[in-house]
Amino acid sequence: MGIVGVIVGSGLNRFQSADDACLVDIQNTPYGPVSGSLIQFSRGGTQVVVMARHGQEHSIAPHEINYRANLWALKSAEARVVISLATVGGIGNRYGPGVIVIPDQILDYTRNREHTFFEDHDPVTHIDFTYPYCDELRQVLIRSAGEAEIEIVAGGTYAATQGPRLETKAEINKLERDGADIVGMTGMPEAALARELGLCYACMALVVNHAAGRGQGVVTATEIETVYAHGVDRLLSMLFAAVPKAEDLAYTLPDPIRPG
Ligand code: HPA
Repeated sequence: MGIVGVIVGSGLNRFQSADDACLVDIQNTPYGPVSGSLIQFSRGGTQVVVMARHGQEHSIAPHEINYRANLWALKSAEARVVISLATVGGIGNRYGPGVIVIPDQILDYTRNREHTFFEDHDPVTHIDFTYPYCDELRQVLIRSAGEAEIEIVAGGTYAATQGPRLETKAEINKLERDGADIVGMTGMPEAALARELGLCYACMALVVNHAAGRGQGVVTATEIETVYAHGVDRLLSMLFAAVPKAEDLAYTLPDPIRPG
């Protein structure tokens, strides 16, 4: 039986309250400290391990997250598949506040983050990243939304920005010209590191605000908190509908490329 890994941005308390929830303490890894203990519990017979990427107290900013340690910890807890929950800003018309998106592409604008496990590798190793998300898991998420009668947008390009500041209006215009539909700060290097570890990784993103310049005025905490409060239950219903289907998911990832 596989273990399903979940990475959440917020709302960890929803998992801590499961009857059989326990802490799995993987404080240190070869890549340094993780964001916090994993929470393990079962859901309909499926074991789930959850990592809060910003830490228990939401004190770790997107550029400070030790993505390598977090992914490594999930893999050492025997997760094979990882479902990432994220909040994002919406750029395109179809991606307004409250919409849940299962993105299928990524644009990476992050910098100075530890972004690979393949350092000092002999031979040099590359991953194919043509399709950055695990499509078998994306299909499970899309099916689960249908069964739970939750409307989603099944596709879209996630732009990962450095943060912690939000973007300027001109930057959002540029991201749109580049082909971005939604924007967040944590999607990379998380997705690429998951691929390097051979994990089947996909993302469920809740749009919590109009991206900069796309709504009325500026982006406010009130807008984000209100939309999140309305959307989080739908997001979690979808997640829990997907968990049993993700457990023994058969998937294939491209083989690593080692030239020479
Ligand atoms: N930009 C970047 N990250 C975000 C946003 C945004 O507008 N909303 C939520 N995460």
